[in-house]
Amino acid sequence: MAANWKMYKTASQTVAYFERFRPLLQGPSPCDIVICPPMLSLPAAVSAASGSNIAIGGQNMYWEKEGAYTGEISGEMLYAEGASWVLVGHSERRRLFCENDSDVLKKAQAAIEANLSPIICMGERLDEHKAGKAYDVLIRQFASGVAGLTEEQFAKTSIAYEPIWAIGTGQTATPDIASEAHQIIRSEVEKRFGSDAAAAVRIIYGGSVKPDNIAGLMAEPDIDGVLVGGASLDPVSFAKIVQAA
Ligand code: PGA
Repeated sequence: MAANWKMYKTASQTVAYFERFRPLLQGPSPCDIVICPPMLSLPAAVSAASGSNIAIGGQNMYWEKEGAYTGEISGEMLYAEGASWVLVGHSERRRLFCENDSDVLKKAQAAIEANLSPIICMGERLDEHKAGKAYDVLIRQFASGVAGLTEEQFAKTSIAYEPIWAIGTGQTATPDIASEAHQIIRSEVEKRFGSDAAAAVRIIYGGSVKPDNIAGLMAEPDIDGVLVGGASLDPVSFAKIVQAA
């Protein structure tokens, strides 16, 4: 169950969030919980999460370890600050910051090299969805991104299916639509990495996940978790989503 805070929450807002969020998690969690705050709030999140089973992730990284790359942060830097996960290829990164599938692959490889677990995001635009091209897009994104990983690298990777038309729009994919897309991705995994990898990989859904639609999504066997934007910003609402796991 992963939270993508996007460009929300300062370090002090992050501390306040954890003070509220941690007591809401009852007992040992049966699932992994990952919160991805903005880079500047990441160290505050790491210390506020210490002693809990909440892991912290970056929202993005660059594939070089260090160098003259103004404004960028490496996987090694994220890891040094206590992150253990990182989102790669979020649709906002692809659309607003011109990331393509080959960048996504390089970032995922560099993340693994830096001891981070990448969550590779993929998903189709509204026009592609309407034109019935969603599966073609997923297959293409898989072939030119994820498929370039080795089997060993893939074992450390999760995939997030995030249809762009569902992100921040309030228009969630129905459990059926999401589940079918997950099956397409899982069958690509099976073709490239084998049936054990297809059974083991976690494919999570993102796009307007809320406390009132989480149960239907999690009831689908092919949906292994969720990546939550807007509804993760409120600790009560994200705790409800986590409990649904
Ligand atoms: P949303 O965002 O939950 O606000 O739709 C999801 C995401 O972009 O990861």
